[in-house]
Amino acid sequence: MPQSVTVRVPAKVNVQLAVGAARPDGFHDLANVFLAVGLYDEVTATPAGDLRITVSGADAALVPLDATNLAARAARALAARHGREPGVHLHIAKDIPVAGGMAGGSADAAAALVACDALWGTGASRAELLEICAELGSDVPFSLVGGAALGTGRGERLAELAVGGEFHWVFAAADGGLSTPAVYAEFDRLTPAAPVPEASPALLAALRTGDAAALAASVANDLQPAALSLRPSLADTLRTGEEAGALAALVSGSGPTTAFLAKDAAAATAIAATLNASGTCRTARVALSPAPGAGVVGQRGA
Ligand code: C5P
Repeated sequence: MPQSVTVRVPAKVNVQLAVGAARPDGFHDLANVFLAVGLYDEVTATPAGDLRITVSGADAALVPLDATNLAARAARALAARHGREPGVHLHIAKDIPVAGGMAGGSADAAAALVACDALWGTGASRAELLEICAELGSDVPFSLVGGAALGTGRGERLAELAVGGEFHWVFAAADGGLSTPAVYAEFDRLTPAAPVPEASPALLAALRTGDAAALAASVANDLQPAALSLRPSLADTLRTGEEAGALAALVSGSGPTTAFLAKDAAAATAIAATLNASGTCRTARVALSPAPGAGVVGQRGA
């Protein structure tokens, strides 16, 4: 058994989030175009008597350490399937904004699965890992896969997408999180008759060709009006980024993180500097996409 396994996992932005009407199970059918971005959490698994979670990083205090932690649930789910005790210490080095609409909790769950599988030698197949991911949450399978993918169903059924180049982003974190169920509930209130969600052919073509201007012209987030309704100050952040030269400005997923697509690295740096000086966000950072999914980056003592 290794003494420790470290897994790195990316954040995501939804370049298209088309949301349909609420289903009988309370979830919404989606056409969800995920793009993994180079902001990463790292999860290190080491053997322990029972399941323990620790977290470091600026947002560490915001992460629950109890049984509701998605990484803890991931470890428990893998252990249960393989008839073993979930004895593991998971340390999460947190860099993805917490409750920010960038799938940080989902990322930690996918990373914990990969780390525990390697630590315990459970040898789960990719298909089994994806199945556990889908049980844990709608965004978790994408955190495992990375790159870019179209998620349908509640977002968990993935078809990987080709990406023909790099995209330069700026992400502005806001003070405090937004509750995903609350944002979906506000969507339902604002959208009495949501059409059946469909992926945009123009957007998929822009990803395929790596064309930032074409991608900017087709990004769309159906949850954005709901997030702005619950957090009107985000409009100032979006406007500030647009005025600083962003090709596109949008709320990331259910928010409140906002995402700005830049034409190149220099433009991204300038937009981040303007946002950081503006007082309209907590902190703004540049990131590149696409980024690889959850993968082992360190292992001690095989
Ligand atoms: O799947 P996950 O646990 O991430 O979903 C969190 C919440 O977001 C759900 O309880 C639901 O309120 C909402 N949701 C939804 N439709 C989806 C995905 C999430 O309504 N497709």
